[in-house]
Amino acid sequence: MTYFDQVNEAAEFLRGQLGGEQGRRAPRIGIVLGSGLGAVAEAVTDPVFVPYGTIPHFPQSTVEGHSGRIVAGLLGGVPVIVMQGRVHYYEGYTPAQVTFPMRVLGRLGLETVILTNASGGINSNYHVGQLVLLSDHINLLGFNPLNGPNEARFGDGKKTGLRFFDMTEAYSVELRTLAQSAAREEGQALHEGVYLATSGPSFETPAEIRAFRALGADLVGMSTVPETIVARHMGLRVLGISCVTNLAAGISATHLSHEEVFEAGSRVQHQLAGLLQRLVPTISAQQARKQAGQQA
Ligand code: HPA
Repeated sequence: MTYFDQVNEAAEFLRGQLGGEQGRRAPRIGIVLGSGLGAVAEAVTDPVFVPYGTIPHFPQSTVEGHSGRIVAGLLGGVPVIVMQGRVHYYEGYTPAQVTFPMRVLGRLGLETVILTNASGGINSNYHVGQLVLLSDHINLLGFNPLNGPNEARFGDGKKTGLRFFDMTEAYSVELRTLAQSAAREEGQALHEGVYLATSGPSFETPAEIRAFRALGADLVGMSTVPETIVARHMGLRVLGISCVTNLAAGISATHLSHEEVFEAGSRVQHQLAGLLQRLVPTISAQQARKQAGQQA
């Protein structure tokens, strides 16, 4: 069975699990939750839960704080599919496995994905517990998930699914504008910054953080970038939201720990839930307007 067939099998299975209700069956917006950010899933009403372990070929997370299930339901009245927990390269998964769930979301027909993560703050204007929109990324993972033969069937064969494609606007400006408005209405301030991905699992050395800052990074983390790349390969729009769970090594007065990251995530997750509940309906309305415009 090819990778493409495995993805389709998982997508078919999920479609079946999402139940008969039309809205739930056809979510257009997906959300991936990072470390300690699970509360967003609790804001989903009328939920259906699908543990990763029950989905054919789906990788299962081994990290504490990533519980590993799909939550499908309504957020702000809009059908969404939420991935509570993700797998990382450092867990020993291949790049293809790391991006398998994003491929499945793409095959489900989503238009937009919101990728959240926990990160270390490099930019000296950031403080712990802050939410930052990703404006761009730097891939220092040491691989690109699209290395290998191009599977054009993941795209429409014309504008997406291409061997070579543009990454000038990996993180949608339009979505960032909507997110900024939603944040203002929530009384929140959102910075925007460049996210640098390393493989981990060790945190960085202070010298690495100085180097990353010189490279133009504002945030450092161990996820998101592979998902963004395959999402863009499939033509999905991406919004990245990072939660600064700690100041990066050498900037922080204390040594880093997973517990610290997890706790800071836990504290800010309600703020993130509030933001997404306000934001998702505006994204949905914008998608509907675009579709109407295309049909007119
Ligand atoms: N470095 C890398 N990944 C992270 C960090 C960090 O400081 N904090 C949360 N994820």
